[in-house]
This record gives sequence, C-alpha cells and structure tokens, in this order.
Amino acid sequence: MEDSNLRDAIEAFYLRYGFATRCLHAGEKIGQPKLKSHVNAIFATSTFTFDSAEEGADLFARRKQGYIYTRMGNPTVVVAEAKLNSLEGRDVKLADPDCCIASLLYSSGMGAIASLAFALLHPGDVLLRGETLYGSTDDFFLTMLPRFGVKTVIVDTENLDDVREKIRQNPKAKMIFFETPTNPLLGLTDIPELVKIVREVNPEIVVAVDNTFATPYLQQPLSMGADVIMHSTTKYLSGHGALIGGALVTKHEWIKEELFHTMKDTGACPSPFDTWLLNMGMKTLPLRMDKHCSSAQILAEWLENHPRVKKVYYPGLKSSPEYALAKKQMRAAGGMISFEIDGGYEQATKFLNNVHLLSLAVSLGCVDSLVQHPASMTHASMSPEARLHAGITDNLIRLSVGIEEVEDLKADIDHALAKM
Ligand SMILES: Cc1ncc(COP(=O)(O)O)c(C=O)c1O
Repeated sequence: MEDSNLRDAIEAFYLRYGFATRCLHAGEKIGQPKLKSHVNAIFATSTFTFDSAEEGADLFARRKQGYIYTRMGNPTVVVAEAKLNSLEGRDVKLADPDCCIASLLYSSGMGAIASLAFALLHPGDVLLRGETLYGSTDDFFLTMLPRFGVKTVIVDTENLDDVREKIRQNPKAKMIFFETPTNPLLGLTDIPELVKIVREVNPEIVVAVDNTFATPYLQQPLSMGADVIMHSTTKYLSGHGALIGGALVTKHEWIKEELFHTMKDTGACPSPFDTWLLNMGMKTLPLRMDKHCSSAQILAEWLENHPRVKKVYYPGLKSSPEYALAKKQMRAAGGMISFEIDGGYEQATKFLNNVHLLSLAVSLGCVDSLVQHPASMTHASMSPEARLHAGITDNLIRLSVGIEEVEDLKADIDHALAKM
C-alpha cells in the first residue's frame, strides 16, 4: 500500500470532482500496482508475503501501512473503501480537510451492524434504536444485544419529542441507530434536527444512520451531523443483486480505530471478488438511481389512483406526510415503494403469485424490479403486535423499482392487481 500521505493526497485529489466523476474515478489509483491495467485487478489472496522477518514484524507494528492478511486489508477492498469515502464524506472533508473519513467494508450489511455494536457498545450501555427497522436488524437489537448486557430502547425518530424524551430517560445511551427512509414504510427522520437534539441533551451519543435506501447519491448523513453511516452494499451500491456486503463510514478517528480492532478480532470482512463487483457497481450509481427514482415516482402516482390499492407509501408523493422532509434532505425520493392492496393476506398472496416480470424475492436496489410481502418475509421475525404497531399489515407489498421500461412494470402490476 502507498504510505498514508500519498494515499491521502490521492483521495484529496478526487474531492474536487462532481459526484458521477468520483463514482468512476475515486479510489481507482489507490493500492494497485503500476501494471497500467485500465480496470483494477482482483487480489484473490488470503495473505501477503514479507521480504524479511523484520519487514513482517514492522508491518504488524504499523498495521495500517501495508498488507498482511486480507482480513486486515486487501488492495481490491481499499479501492472500494476509498471510493465510498469520497461519496459519503466529500463535503465533510472539504469543510475540514484534517478530519478523518474512513470506510470499512463487511461481508454483509448485518455483519456491519453487528460489528458497529461490538465496536462501540459495552455491558450496561443503552442503544436507542429507531422504531421501524429491517427485520434482522430489529431482531439483532431485540434478542441478541441484550445477551451481551446492552439494553435496547425503541425510539420513534420521526417524532423529535420522543427522541429528546428517550435521551433524557436513558443517561447511559451510547448510540442512536435508525434508518431513513425506513424499511419497509419509507418513514423519514429529520437528520440535522435529530443531531441537534442529541448534541444538546447528551453529546456523547453516537448518531448512526442506515443509509441503505437513500445511498450517498440521494442523502449524505455525515454532512448533516451524523457520526457513522451504515450500508447494506448488497443493495443499490452494488446494484446488480450479485453479492452480499456491508459498509460503515465514519468521520471520527476513534471510531475508525474501534472498527479496525473489531474487524481484526471478529472478522466480518468481505471477499475481494465481491468487493470488486461492488466497486464496478458504484461506478454507475447516479445513472441507476436517477432511473429508479423517476420510475418509482411515476409508479407511486399511478398506484395512488388505482382502484385496487388502498394506500401508497412513497416520500415523493405530494400527499405523503414525508414529502416536505424528502424535499429538504434528499435529492429525490428513492426507488422503493410500499403499498397496501385492497384485501388481506389472501389477496396479497394472489397478487404476488401473478406478477411475471417483477421477481418475487426479498432484497432490493437491483437493476431489475423485486417485489415481496414484508409481514411474511423480511419482517416475519417481528411479533405480530410489533408489526401491527409499526404499520406492517398483511396487505402491505414492498416494491423495489428497477430500471426496466416503466410501462412494462405498470402492465405487470396492473395484471397482478386484476387477478387478486
Ligand atoms: C435497510 C437495511 N439494512 C440492513 C440490511 C441488512 O443487509 P444484508 O442483507 O446485506 O446483511 C438490509 C437488508 O435487506 C436492509 O434492507
């Protein structure tokens, strides 16, 4: 690896460019040998050889300045991490060139979330967590973290009074973690306002945002004051549904150090091949997101007026309670729509069994459209009461809008709705 000064200089060079240019070029010249290969190589290796015993000992002593073992760093992984730094952290870095922006990639989004918790929470600490979260995140916080002595408290981050109240009630709170937009109901949290309350009431609390649904193209929470961003890179960042991966990005040196330590000792590292695919995917992120968003807007407006649809959740709809906030903190409202069909579980099943073009599958953020039933699939691990409280009803369908011709998607959905 280049020494850290050279690496910082290369990273700083790309900060002058616009988002789409950084998607293509940022990170590409870091950590790669000078073979003049136009596309970066995949370093499919577990370990790296030392020229001498002294060099090995020296690399261990200065871990971050050389490759030792792929769990602790790999040239293919470094490229994608540097690209993500530039996408999530550019504005923070321009405002404060001395601040540290660091990304770590993981073997899955859940690996990233578990690593974040292991890195920053200790027995006796309290984790404040958003009310609606991806099913496994919810399950991990509710059932696994308490085994390690961490108490989790649900907070409605869409209600800032509740945020203030829960922080006051929990002086041992160390982190607040939430999604915006949420999975699956597309609820939004006002990130700058939430950060303001945290800083006023208990500045020690780390603000962590799951930015999976928005991606850095639509929203950059670090520049709104958040401390850590989490991604399931399985979704829009890689974009083609070909890998499982995760990421954490932070602007604090101390958090970076804790994350490095946790990665070394718990090992949720990504494979070089998956990371190479992720890096290729990130190159087209803005093009894909523009199309996901414009098609989702068209479909949401159409579904809102469909006689067999009762309710549509999409922050880009003028009728949505989230519309003003979406306009304020997001470039566009995203590629995810949830809607309630006119009926119950039986009609939802019929709808899903009658789509042909859309794939009936969990996950999201792929170039092609995916549709699923949160109550019996992604959020099945929640108790029926918790699901109902959150608004995840039996007639709720979640749609990840792909980049197909939007008229073809409309026709497929219309056909399946008619079959209900
Ligand atoms: C918002 C959100 N966060 C985290 C995850 C977990 O990511 P992964 O499936 O990559 O472990 C998911 C998965 O669907 C998700 O939708």
